[in-house]
Amino acid sequence: MGSNMRTYWILVCIVGLLAQGIAQEELDWWETTVFYQIYPRSFKDSDGDGIGDLNGITSQLKYLKELGVGATWLSPIFKSPMYDFGYDISDFYDIQDEYGTMEDFENLLSEAKELDIKIILDFVPNHGSNESVWFEEALRGHEKYYDYFVWEDGVEDENGNLQPPNNWRSVFRKSAWEYREEVGKYYLHQFVIGQPDLNYRNPDVVEEMKNVIRFWLDKGVAGFRVDAIAHLFEVDKELFDGKYPDEPLTGNDDPDSYDYVDHIYTKDQDETFDMVYQWREVFDEYKAKDGLTRVMMTEAYSSPQLTMRYFGEGDREGAQMPFNFVLISDVNGKSSAHEIKYALDKFMTFKPVDKLANWVAGNHDNNRVASRFSPELVDGINMIVLLLPGVAVTYMGEEIGMVDGFISWEDTVDPSGCNTDDPINYVYSSRDPERTPFQWNADKNAGFSDANKTWLPVADGYETLNVEVQRNTDQSHLNVYKALVQLRGQQAFRHGRYESLALNSDVFAFKRWYNSENYVVVVNFRSQEYTVDLTYFDNVIGDLEVVISSIQSPKTEGTIVQADRVEVLGSESLVLKVK
Ligand code: NOJ
Ligand code: MG
Repeated sequence: MGSNMRTYWILVCIVGLLAQGIAQEELDWWETTVFYQIYPRSFKDSDGDGIGDLNGITSQLKYLKELGVGATWLSPIFKSPMYDFGYDISDFYDIQDEYGTMEDFENLLSEAKELDIKIILDFVPNHGSNESVWFEEALRGHEKYYDYFVWEDGVEDENGNLQPPNNWRSVFRKSAWEYREEVGKYYLHQFVIGQPDLNYRNPDVVEEMKNVIRFWLDKGVAGFRVDAIAHLFEVDKELFDGKYPDEPLTGNDDPDSYDYVDHIYTKDQDETFDMVYQWREVFDEYKAKDGLTRVMMTEAYSSPQLTMRYFGEGDREGAQMPFNFVLISDVNGKSSAHEIKYALDKFMTFKPVDKLANWVAGNHDNNRVASRFSPELVDGINMIVLLLPGVAVTYMGEEIGMVDGFISWEDTVDPSGCNTDDPINYVYSSRDPERTPFQWNADKNAGFSDANKTWLPVADGYETLNVEVQRNTDQSHLNVYKALVQLRGQQAFRHGRYESLALNSDVFAFKRWYNSENYVVVVNFRSQEYTVDLTYFDNVIGDLEVVISSIQSPKTEGTIVQADRVEVLGSESLVLKVK
């Protein structure tokens, strides 16, 4: 090679390396990691009371490391009478006894730090607890705390009986107003009676809740998942002569149902978005101090237009991860590949170009993937969640394909189930099935607890569906999951572009590519077998190598298939690499 040529090639290499280096530097810790949601009550019980706890989590941080996840979001661990299992917080600055002590939490933080696992807490700003000091003080007439909540006069009906101020409904059924004799007024609770809404039109509440954020950031948490954000503000009643107006009827004929009225005055108010941006400013104060990005994920089951507003507006930044719930709300095991593509494209279409997507297939409020789709699709859904562009979020147990537990009416504890007052149809509302204890092994209570009775019964089938069995089985959901998490580290998945196709009504495929690296993921949503032609994707030709396959697939790693005629068995999912 002549010296000119050599200089040319050296330059090409340097530019190539620089380009890669720059691309990598652009990504922050949260952009490449996997977030793992722990529902603390159900993860691991360390003290034998049948309830998961902080020391239980600490003891299993190594499991998170084994999975390859870099951050865990814990559902609420704060003081609570547990009417909504921790989402009714009576002291935002303290730990619930049955979960442990502040020392246990600090220990969890330091052990997690050792393992380079970030801890994210649940911030529940919309409501407190009717058993909090704040609420008790309010009832005693302490003005400061009275103004922490949303109060309204009742109205007299034709018989002279006092009725709630208006037709607002609780998410958990019936009126969203509860009367308190002590003050002769009704308070607003958009969720259970034990969850009085906080009054964000009071600057003291705004400051108090920022202090809650600061308190936990000072302890060392790396961010928050923000609960029920769409409900934060109610309409300004001064615009309606000082009285909260009725919401319009939807036509739903069950007056107790949340869907009885259209929530134009209690959800998605403009002020809510502004508050998110204000919290982000608090997060960024911390980043300015030590350089570590504190991440915010917002929980709102909203239209894509509204969801995107949580990212920020104009020069104001908001949440890095407004949760993308399409895999929960828009599709299920009956959806066609076309519907799957349409749903997955939604967030990508609406999101601002400079923001990242995120993918969530499950959480403690929705039936499990194996139950909503099917047990055969567990790997396929994990492939989608972990290999699409953006951040992946996994609800504990989805990595082993846990199924919903059956919880009898007698054992039902979730207010969403109990409030149906319906021993038959409660199953459609109860969230207990997806909250059953985590399945570690085939021992008593699936290795979750030594107790004689656990807070929810362990789901049937744990003897064979558990971490230990799957760890020791080559073809297991757990091993597929771990392999997917590793594969995410490849350039094509970190930085690569994305294109998807419904190859027919049952088979969905997407391509990820970066420079010369090309991967295709194929998921067959049905039990019918197909031969598919993947050359519809650009640059997908010739030999493809199987990198990861779903557990029922006979194709082992390294198997070569032909791009123009890939046989896809029923419910088979494959990650293929162009040779
Ligand atoms: C959403 C939480 O995920 C859910 O579990 C809770 O019941 C409501 N918000 C109220 O806090
Ligand atoms: Mg315990």
